[in-house]
Amino acid sequence: MTLVAGIETSCDETAVALVEDGVRVVVNEVASQILVHAPFGGVVPEIASRQHTEIISELAGKVLDGTKMDAVAVTCGPGLMGSLLVGVNFAKAFAYARGLPIVPVHHIEGHIYSPFLKGQAPDFPALALIVSGGHTMLIACHGDHEYDLLGTTRDDAVGESFDKVARLLDLPYPGGPSIQRAAEGGDPDAFDFPRAMRSHDSLEFSYSGLKTAVLYALRDNAGASRADLAASFQAAAIDILLIKTKQALAQTGSPRLIVAGGVAANLLLRRRLEGEIDVPLLIPDIALCTDNAAMIAAAGFWRLQHGDTATLSLSPNPGLSLV
Ligand code: KG4
Ligand code: ZN
Repeated sequence: MTLVAGIETSCDETAVALVEDGVRVVVNEVASQILVHAPFGGVVPEIASRQHTEIISELAGKVLDGTKMDAVAVTCGPGLMGSLLVGVNFAKAFAYARGLPIVPVHHIEGHIYSPFLKGQAPDFPALALIVSGGHTMLIACHGDHEYDLLGTTRDDAVGESFDKVARLLDLPYPGGPSIQRAAEGGDPDAFDFPRAMRSHDSLEFSYSGLKTAVLYALRDNAGASRADLAASFQAAAIDILLIKTKQALAQTGSPRLIVAGGVAANLLLRRRLEGEIDVPLLIPDIALCTDNAAMIAAAGFWRLQHGDTATLSLSPNPGLSLV
């Protein structure tokens, strides 16, 4: 049995976890900073790194004290530089003190491995749809750590568009869960919002026009119901994910689909994927969709199998590329 500790601080969650053999969560602690950033309507980088610094030792102590492990995996990018630095420096000090190898993990690779935390070893090749606050990506996963980026967003990420539209609708941060809640009582057909790039062959996304369409709908319909606006926005935002994912499955002939990242927690997306995709769907439990350290430990376990460890000179890279 191999135990890998995971440390994740790339954005506004301080997270520490312990994972067995890359597929079983032993402990998974996430200290969310949502309440601290909510008054600003989004993440304030300086506040995020200070919060990570204040909490990481205590959180890691709670999860890792008294436990023997085999390696420490840490998110080394992409993300906010100040936030990444806290996690990477903590991981280096911890690894040095315990005499453990350090495994650097790409944040998106963590999301890719998150569906395999149900006890089943990763299965490749697969198509991965990664949908989060910072990324909207279709990735061809050929095998462990072999990726091709098929498409990404030209402007806003899908989660970012949920966050921005929530702000327009005076709904609390983070926008994804609050739009989902507001949409429950609304009519998804009340507004016919655009599905950008729908008829293009490319697998690119674009979300900024959708946000602008909601802004104009608000301006031009003084009495419009927030629930209808939220439901119509959510329907359009999710619809385009389905359109492009089906297109990518047809183009690649991929035998399975991974869907992960914060937006994978969206219930409309999950329902539509289950009903409309005819290859096996690999999607994490809702609690493991948003940022966590279990996914970093999981990806780290498979990196460790390939001997991908780092020295104490490891530095984070806020713009780290997956391919
Ligand atoms: O993966 P994640 O925790 O962080 C990044 O790596 O960015 O994703 C956070 C994003 C936020 O934009 C949030 O609004 C969105 O995921 N999100 C959702 C839902 N839950 C979180 N979007 C739609 N529906 C949800 N239920
Ligand atoms: Zn993420």
